[in-house]
Amino acid sequence: MGRTLARRLADAGYRVVVGSRNPVEKGQHPDLKHDKIEVVSVESAIEAAPVCFLAVPWNSMLPLVQQHAPWHNTILVDCSNPLNRTFDGLELGHHTSAAEEIAKHAQGARVVKALNTASVEVMNNPRFGDTAATMFFCGDDEAAKNSVGDILIALGFAPIDCGALQQARNLEPLAMLYIHLAVRRGFGSHFGFTTLKR
Ligand SMILES: NC(=O)c1ccc[n+]([C@@H]2O[C@H](COP(=O)([O-])OP(=O)(O)OC[C@H]3O[C@@H](n4cnc5c(N)ncnc54)[C@H](OP(=O)(O)O)[C@@H]3O)[C@@H](O)[C@H]2O)c1
Repeated sequence: MGRTLARRLADAGYRVVVGSRNPVEKGQHPDLKHDKIEVVSVESAIEAAPVCFLAVPWNSMLPLVQQHAPWHNTILVDCSNPLNRTFDGLELGHHTSAAEEIAKHAQGARVVKALNTASVEVMNNPRFGDTAATMFFCGDDEAAKNSVGDILIALGFAPIDCGALQQARNLEPLAMLYIHLAVRRGFGSHFGFTTLKR
C-alpha cells in the first residue's frame, strides 16, 4: 500500500518521503526508484511530512502513533482497516473505529480517514473506463480534509467527504465488505465502489 501510494503521489508531482524501519533495503524496491521519492527512517519521514499516510498493519498502528506524539498539527491519513487475525472481520467497530482510536493516541494530529475502501490495484489505477472510483473520506478538521480531498483528486479518485471522523465507523465495515467481495465472492482486486445520484 505504502509503496504504491508513494509512487502514485510522486508521479502526480508531490515530493514523497517514505518512512521505513529498514530504509536501505526498502529504497531498493523498483516502485521507490523515483526522483521525487526519498526513503528514510520512520522518525525522519514524520519530521519532514506535513501530511503523513499511515500505511502499516493495524496491530502496529496505535503504538506507532503514540510513540511519535506530539504530532504538531500533522495531517495523519489513516488508510488502515482494523482486521482480525484471520482477516475475515474487524477487531473493533460500531461504537468506535480505528481512525477514532488513532486520533485518541496521536496527540496533536489532525486525523483523516481515507484510502481504506479500495485495493492497491485500484490505488494504482482508479479509472474504470470513463468513471473514477469513489474514495470516501472523513475527519473533524475541515482544512485537513480539504488538503486530503485535493490529494485524492490528484491520485485520480472521485472523493466524497462523508463528514466527521466518526463516519469511519461506517467506512471500515465498508472496506470489510470490499475485502469479502474481493477474496471470497470472486470479484478480485480490480473493482471499485462508485455512487449514483439523482
Ligand atoms: N493492501 C491493500 O490492498 C490495502 C488496501 C486498503 C487499506 N490497506 C491498509 O493499509 C495498511 C497497510 O497495508 P499493507 O498491505 O501495505 O501492509 P503490509 O505490507 O503488511 O505492511 C506495510 C508496511 O508496514 C511496515 N510494518 C509492518 N509491520 C510493522 C510493525 N510491526 N511496526 C511498524 N511497521 C510495520 C512495513 O514497512 P517497513 O518494514 O519498511 O518498516 C511494511 O512494509 C493496513 O492497515 C491495511 O489495512 C491495505
